[in-house]
Amino acid sequence: MILFQQSNALRGFLESQKAQNKRIGFVPTMGALHAGHISLITQAKANCDIVVCSIFVNPTQFTQASDLETYPRPISKDIELLEAHACDVLFHPSVEEMYGSDLSKDNSNDYGSFVHVLEGASRPGHFDGVVTVVKKLFELVRPDEVFFGQKDYQQCLVVQTLINRSFNTIKFNLCVIAREADGLAMSSRNIRLSEAERILAPQLYLALKKAKQLWTVETWKTASNEALKEIDSNAFTVEYLKICDQNTLEELSHFQNSAVVVLVAVQIGKTRLIDNILIDKD
Ligand code: PAF
Repeated sequence: MILFQQSNALRGFLESQKAQNKRIGFVPTMGALHAGHISLITQAKANCDIVVCSIFVNPTQFTQASDLETYPRPISKDIELLEAHACDVLFHPSVEEMYGSDLSKDNSNDYGSFVHVLEGASRPGHFDGVVTVVKKLFELVRPDEVFFGQKDYQQCLVVQTLINRSFNTIKFNLCVIAREADGLAMSSRNIRLSEAERILAPQLYLALKKAKQLWTVETWKTASNEALKEIDSNAFTVEYLKICDQNTLEELSHFQNSAVVVLVAVQIGKTRLIDNILIDKD
């Protein structure tokens, strides 16, 4: 694997690969890699000739300074993992390399009403920060395909909109959520869970599965209430559990036999967890 920390050097290398008609797959991450990230690398390897992974903890998408400070950064372990899975290129820039001295966010575009709900409402400005860095990365890497995990479903919608508007040659791949054996969605934040919290955390997936099971014309009214009962209210603070339209993220107030997504966000101890499940049209 070739490691680049400077944009110019990466750009030069990728230009030479493109000149040889190599197809570039890109997996942007913030590091603390786990099997979910590796499944993105594996899919990128299956579809493309050269796989570029970026590891950059993007300051502009954090809404709390303490979250940014304590975000895990196990770079040596990440490099070992990427090498073990035959990733071709790692881009690991400094904050200065990405932003210079200007940490302002790009909030010049409205990416649609779905940006302001759920994560957008809980973490104001978060998606402006995501769009700012993803734009910079797409402009630099100019990938043929990108690979994003469904766990950040709302982020996937935002990035798809960005691609449709500004990078319409890029193919977007939505990759299924990688789960632990007990159903907990893999996340870089899981390592912050205490032993007791880790035992309770799979309740999120139980709740999502319950909502999915109850989302029928007869039982939709109770679906989200029954789902919430799967989550121990003494241990978790539920920020939201919502059944929404898969494309607009508009919350559904009636049964709809269309593509639906159930999304949940909770706080457990010091850790915030999110998860979701898709319910596709019959
Ligand atoms: O999903 C993430 O890890 C980040 O939001 C991303 C897409 C790498 C942008 O910083």
